[in-house]
Amino acid sequence: MSKRFYITTPIYYINAEPHIGHAYTTLAADILNRFYRDILRRETYFLTGTDEHGTKIEERAKLQHQSPKDYADAVSQSFRELWKHLDVRYDDFIRTTEPRHESRVQAVFEKLLHSGDIFKDRYSGYYCVSDETFWTKTDLKNELERLGKEAPEKEPHRPRCPTCGKPLTWVEEDGYFFKLSAYQDRLLQHYKAHPEFLQPAHRAPEILRFVESGLKDLSVTRAAAKVPWGIQVPGDADHTIYVWFDALLNYVTALGYSPKGSDEVFEEMWPADVQLVGKEIYRFHAVIWPAMLLALGLPLPRTVYAHGWWTVEGEKMSKSKGNFVDPHVITREFGVDALRYFLFREMPFGNDGDFSIASLKKRYNSELGNDLGNLVSRVTDMVDKFLKGELPKKPRMEQAMLSKAIADESRAIYEAMECLAFSDALGRIWACIGRLNKHVNDEQPWKKFATEPEKVKFLLFDLVSSLRIIAGWIEPFMPQTAAKMQMELGVRRISHPLTADEVLSGEMQRKIQKAPPLFPRK
Ligand code: MSP
Repeated sequence: MSKRFYITTPIYYINAEPHIGHAYTTLAADILNRFYRDILRRETYFLTGTDEHGTKIEERAKLQHQSPKDYADAVSQSFRELWKHLDVRYDDFIRTTEPRHESRVQAVFEKLLHSGDIFKDRYSGYYCVSDETFWTKTDLKNELERLGKEAPEKEPHRPRCPTCGKPLTWVEEDGYFFKLSAYQDRLLQHYKAHPEFLQPAHRAPEILRFVESGLKDLSVTRAAAKVPWGIQVPGDADHTIYVWFDALLNYVTALGYSPKGSDEVFEEMWPADVQLVGKEIYRFHAVIWPAMLLALGLPLPRTVYAHGWWTVEGEKMSKSKGNFVDPHVITREFGVDALRYFLFREMPFGNDGDFSIASLKKRYNSELGNDLGNLVSRVTDMVDKFLKGELPKKPRMEQAMLSKAIADESRAIYEAMECLAFSDALGRIWACIGRLNKHVNDEQPWKKFATEPEKVKFLLFDLVSSLRIIAGWIEPFMPQTAAKMQMELGVRRISHPLTADEVLSGEMQRKIQKAPPLFPRK
């Protein structure tokens, strides 16, 4: 059995409807998955899902006068609907409230309890309900100093969460701890031996510093009396499992992993090839998660990649500002592919950036409408008009130099895709589109046809071949546009886009007709 290329997204909290931030990670995973599956023709597996336990969700359900389960069903469904709308093709969608997940999480807990990696103790410290994060007094040193020596632990002067700024809750309770400290050295060794693990490279130092400064054991349960909406600790009804400990395991429980015996599919997939996360949850994925895997004796994922964050019109997206961008609003006006394109062209994956409608509209009209859309219209128009839609079957090599030169760019584009440098890949594709536009403008085939029909015929063949190659490259980003282009450029119905080699070695099969604009002006 050969190993399948396994890609994951974080599983999203269901305390709010999905917005472009969530869509960003899931689309990145879809683009990467399509690239490996459709272009490199690898067997792939793509997992996403929803993270449904914890106080935050319970409170939200209460506000909506629903049971947590009914509430979870509804919001989880809206995530799935959005993915469908955005042409995201995942292989599995896991919900942490599913029995297949819950029973396996309990089995993991039991195993680690037996091995001594989980032990009982008393916890005292702060907790952020919004981020589901424990904070020690040392983590909050500055904040506590600001508030005064004896930090007030109750309202109205509670310290704030260093990440989200919301007031923290003081927690003092008996519970279970995971021996995170025992894995410090092994984690550091792993980072050193596998530089591809912490990606992008510019985020590695933050993780290294954090681990080198000393890892503390992690509280992995909450008192069931306070947090009832969670997976129960096996054999101890007084405690529920910490929502992050529960959630991180989704990446293996979805594949059927259990210390009591795993499904075959687990062997086919694990370890993950790329685990995508936003930068704010990098520590969970680059420190706690691999330590849990080490404790379970499982191999670590090849890459954990933390991308950057979108602000909107210069501001952080937040409930209080009410400035969450609903992807439906964008797709209604510009279409699904324009959103998919914009998110990955505008900001280099791994960096932060700003989402603005003005910038989206500009790129839509210039790069999609003018550069690509007009080129396809002009070329198909000329084939229709001058050649009655019929192109020569197969020219000689020297009659297809342009498409040969375009095809030579494949390697650099694939390399960029393999490094998740999506904007770089798109930049290279658009440089090729620019080259084609320049060629058409320089050659002016519409003027030459009367005097040099043979030359124009092969030039048009060369342009159509080049555009077919481009259609293949853009499929991961814009599947609908790629399918339309293939149709308009006379490619017979195929299950996946043609690679450059296939375009160059294949024949022109179908008649070409003038095509309507791919991206009507906005
Ligand atoms: N449930 C946890 C993850 C558990 S994974 C085992 C969680 N969920 S979340 O709903 O808050 O989703 C966070 C993820 O959404 C981020 O890591 C990122 O992938 C994406 N984004 C949310 N807002 C974002 C932006 N403003 N910009 C870019 N991505 C963002 O954390």
